[in-house]
This record gives sequence, structure tokens and C-alpha cells, in this order.
Amino acid sequence: MNFIGFCGRKFKIFVEIFYLSEAFLRVIEMGGFIPDEVVETVRLRADIIGVISQYVVLKKKGKYHFGPCPFHNEKEPSFAVMPEKQIFHCFGCGVGGDVFRFLMLKENMSFPEAVRKLAEQNGVAVPVGVNSIDREEVKREDRAYEINKKAKDFYRHVLQTHDMANEARQYLAERGFSREVLELFQVGFALPAWNGLLTSLSKHGFKPKELAEVGLAATGEGSGRFYDRFRNRIMFPIWDDRGRVVGFGGRVLDETQPKYLNTSETPYFSKGRVLYGLHLAKLPVREEGFVIVMEGYLDVITACQFGVTNAVASLGTSLTREQVRLLMRHTKDIVVAFDADSAGVAATLRGLALLMELGCRVRVVDIPDGKDPDQFIRRQGVQAWNSLVENAFSLVEYTLKKAIGQKEIRTVAEKVKIAQQVLPSLAGLQSEVEKEEGIKVLAKNLSLSWDTVAGELRRFEDLHRKKWPNPDNIAKRKHNILSREDQPDARDRAERGILRLVLEDPALGKVISEERGEILFHRPFHRKVFNLCLETAGSRVYNPVMIFNHLASDEQELLSGLLMEEIPGGDRPQILRGLVGAIDRIEIKERKEQLLREISSAEKIGDQEQVTQLLRDLRQAISLRTP
Ligand code: UTP
Ligand code: MN
Repeated sequence: MNFIGFCGRKFKIFVEIFYLSEAFLRVIEMGGFIPDEVVETVRLRADIIGVISQYVVLKKKGKYHFGPCPFHNEKEPSFAVMPEKQIFHCFGCGVGGDVFRFLMLKENMSFPEAVRKLAEQNGVAVPVGVNSIDREEVKREDRAYEINKKAKDFYRHVLQTHDMANEARQYLAERGFSREVLELFQVGFALPAWNGLLTSLSKHGFKPKELAEVGLAATGEGSGRFYDRFRNRIMFPIWDDRGRVVGFGGRVLDETQPKYLNTSETPYFSKGRVLYGLHLAKLPVREEGFVIVMEGYLDVITACQFGVTNAVASLGTSLTREQVRLLMRHTKDIVVAFDADSAGVAATLRGLALLMELGCRVRVVDIPDGKDPDQFIRRQGVQAWNSLVENAFSLVEYTLKKAIGQKEIRTVAEKVKIAQQVLPSLAGLQSEVEKEEGIKVLAKNLSLSWDTVAGELRRFEDLHRKKWPNPDNIAKRKHNILSREDQPDARDRAERGILRLVLEDPALGKVISEERGEILFHRPFHRKVFNLCLETAGSRVYNPVMIFNHLASDEQELLSGLLMEEIPGGDRPQILRGLVGAIDRIEIKERKEQLLREISSAEKIGDQEQVTQLLRDLRQAISLRTP
């Protein structure tokens, strides 16, 4: 009997007893959620292959079933279902999760609705009038939003009323921001003090530790004392698309570096998961039928002041998958208007590849004279801006333009070289009509015949046509289009390795954490999954897929990707210790480097006392855990 079958039987008995028990009734009364146990029964009875096959033609290949992804446009199937783990994952667009998530996405259902639907089809009774949200988690999340909101109000009040905010008010006025638009975006100011926010929020009953948890306060390396993270900066609150304040960007009043400090990455805030201004732009985007994606806070604010209300900002990085998915809930028509400097152009090109792959229609505004949208609109006026947007370049035109640059093309060799650079974007176009258009553009600009270009394109496509995929290759291909920040480094790989083992066997995780205490996971998501594993380690039945019940949707995608990875073979406890050791070594190395940096800056300003303290820390760090 296989593992699932085995668990299934035990489980059924367990569930039946559970149903009759008082504990169950209490859960319903108190928490009002579908107990995990019921969810698991439904999961066991509803086979994921059966469910997904109703929507996707799947073909078995080894441990996987492959098919074309139903969530993004693709010709080569990179959507995989793994019945052994009861998960699905698309190696192309990254979407993934368990059988419930599939229905939630495909049928636009809530989690309880998906559970109920499958329960009904599979003869499992689910009590009415309950939902499955984890109340503790919700409470903590609400508290995080509450803190951010209070902080926003505080910063806002300071900007409007405080004597020490004179300079900030003047700065904003000089840059031409109207009171109305500053009000709309709730811009504020953080005082040049170490505990302005801490003091004010403590009056509302928020503890320093809570502020630190949402990235608004930090602790001193040695002292452990809390201090405000944001000081002497103009504060831009960042909202999620539901209109909750999740973080801040803070700008200095001059051009010192770093120009912006953002809320640190926490479970409640991640730069790559939000789009600045989306909460305000949602409606205008629907009305206009397209969205303009810019780089900076101030680009969006200026655009809005001048009546361009369908703009959002990516917070300065190239677009991430999460951001594109957020956008695609509102429109597939995307105009990219990144800064015209070289970093902006590089980010544009990376973003374009992703947008195309996820099935968006993309156009690009090429802002003249190296400006950003803020400068352009202020200097040339909004009319000029609107016509730039109306005449935005198609993907092929833009890549062609960037490939040609300032060069003069005369020889055939030069033309071929240019064409080679543009063919990938041409091949990536979704529709034949667009391709036709693209071929025309390329032919015209390079003075080649339509047939020649079409022939080159065909050759290129034949060369790159993929067979039925192999997950490793798809994963590699995927990493090529991800931005650099998304690529796993050594530490990330070690953390993933640990999770892979512990997800399979939570008891292993228990052993190692009892042996050596906390593992220094770098990514909050990894820490969360590890802790969830530990929590479930004692439960009567365990299957890694149960962890999905405790994760937000984007975390589910990360987990399904993780579960698709191979488990390292060999002596597992030994491998696990090796991986944990690797993390320790990296941690010590990073800490040492950090201290050395601090020592050298303390030396520069001649703070001998600080130097002595730091040297002591350094000695301690080195002897902390001998790798
Ligand atoms: P920009 O340097 O273009 O800033 O960075 P900006 O918003 O146009 O501001 P001004 O006009 O120079 O005053 C674009 C975005 O990149 C992120 C911020 O989100 C910023 O809005 N960024 C930039 C950072 O997070 N940190 C930095 O140090 C710089
Ligand atoms: Mn800018």
C-alpha cells in the first residue's frame, strides 16, 4: 500500500472519531474554520490528476504529468502535476500549489468554496457556515497593517505641522508637488531623531518589538536597543492593492546615498510583491484599458498630479512575476516607461521578456534625453507625455532600436547581427498577426526582404523548439529570465536543501533543531516553512502538501517549486548537518564583513571607543561557531 493510501485509511478512522468529538464542535464554535483534518480527507479523496485533467490535457512522463499551462500562454508545456506529492507547478510562470489552489485560480473560488466543491464531489461532509482562516495569523497580520497605518499618520502629521519638517516641506514645494497630490499619496516626514516613531506609537500601545517586526524599527548590533529605522527622510507609504499600508519608502532631502531606504523585507512586506500606486490606479487602469509601469515613487506622483492616473511604479527594480500577476488582474495591456538611463533600459528589457512570457501585450515608452517620467512631464508637459505613450514602441521596435543604438548598419554581417538580437522577441510574440507586423518592422529597418526575415525567424524557431520538457531544463531556462535578485545563491541553495529534507521528514528537523538551536534562515519564507514542518512533526498523519493550508498564495507557489526539486540522496541526517554548517559559515562570513566595514568607518571618523567595541564583537563572531 502506498503512503497516501496508508494514511488515508488511518485518517478516515481518525476523522470519523474526530467528527463525533467535542473538540470538533468546539473548533466550529470558536474558530469557525474547516479543520485541517477535514481538508485532508477531501484532499485524499480528490485525486489531483483527475481534477486538473478536466481542464488540461496531461501526458505522463516519469513522476510528472505535463501539459500546457492553463494560467499563461505557452506552446511548450511546462506545467507539471506530481501526483505523488499532490501538487502542481508551472516551471514557466511559477504558479503552483495544491488541488484547492488550482480550483481557486481556475474557478475563481475562495479556499472554503474549493474545499466544499471537492468535498461534495467526493462524498465528504463539511459543516456549513465555517471558513478556514487561521485566526491567529489574521490577528497578527491585522496588527501589522494597523502599525503601518498609525506610522503613516504620524509621519504625515509631522510633515504638516512640525518645525523640524520645514526643510522637507520646502524641498517638496520646490520640486513642484501640489498639496492635493501629497495628500492623496499621504506623503510624510520622519524626524531626524532616533525614537520619534517609537515614542509616538508606544502611546498607542505598540511595542518596539512589534515595530521591528514590520520593519519600522531596528536594534543596535551590540546594545540590543531599538531605534527608528527611518530618520530625516520624506516618507512615502506603500499600499497593497487592497489599500492597506504595508511599508514605506523614505527619501533623503539631498542626493546622499542611499537615496531611498525602504521597509526591510518582512513577512508583511516585500518590494517585489507590491506595485506602488496600484490601490489608486486600479479604477483608472480599467477605464483607460492599460497601465503604465514606471520606476519611481515620484514618477507616479508627478504623473498623477498632471492627470495621468493609470500609472504604478515597480519600486526601481525590474518587474517580478508577482508584480506582473498583480497587474494582470486588472489589465493585460502594459506600457513600460522606465528611466532612460542604462540601468532603466536593462530593467526594461528584462521586464519585457517576463511580460511577454506571461502573455501580456507590451509597449515601451522610450523617454528622450535620458529623462525619467517625472522630469519629462514637468519639462515638456502632459500633452507631450500623452503622445509619447500613444506612440509607444512595440516590443520588436524597441528591441530593434536598442540593438541598433547609434550604430550605422551597412554590411550584411551587421544586419544579421542585429536581426539575431531581435529574433528572440519576435519569436516570443503570442499571435501570428503581431509576428507578421514584427517581421515587417524588422525587414523595413534593416532593408531586407520580408521573406528573408520570415525565413530567419523560422530557422530560429526550429532551432529553439523544445521537446517534451524535463524539469531541470525548464528550471534552468526559467532562471535565465529571472532578474538577478531572484537567482539562488549558495545560502539560498543550502536553505532549500534543508527544507527539501525536512519537508519530507519533519522529525529530522526536530532532531537538528534540538541538537543545535535555531537555524539562521535568511529568507522569512524558509523560516516559516521550517517552523510549520516542526509544528506538524508530531501530528498523526503528515504529508508535505498539508503545509499549503498555512501559506499565502505567493508562498504556495514557492512551496510547490520547492517540492518539485529532487531530494538529496545519501545519509540524510549527515547531509542536513552539512547544509546547516554551510549556512553557519556563510552567516559568520557575512557578519565578519559587516563588522569590518563598520570598523573601517568608525576608524575614519576616529571613534576609538566604537572601534574597540567592534573589534570585541569581531573576535566574538569569529569564535562563535567554529565552522
Ligand atoms: P529613482 O532614483 O529614479 O528615484 O529610483 P525617483 O523616485 O525618481 O526619485 P527622484 O526623482 O530621483 O527624487 C526609482 C525607484 O527606485 C527605488 C525607489 O522605489 C525609487 O522610487 N530606489 C531607488 C530604492 O529603493 N533605493 C534607492 O536607493 C534608489
Ligand atoms: Mn527617477
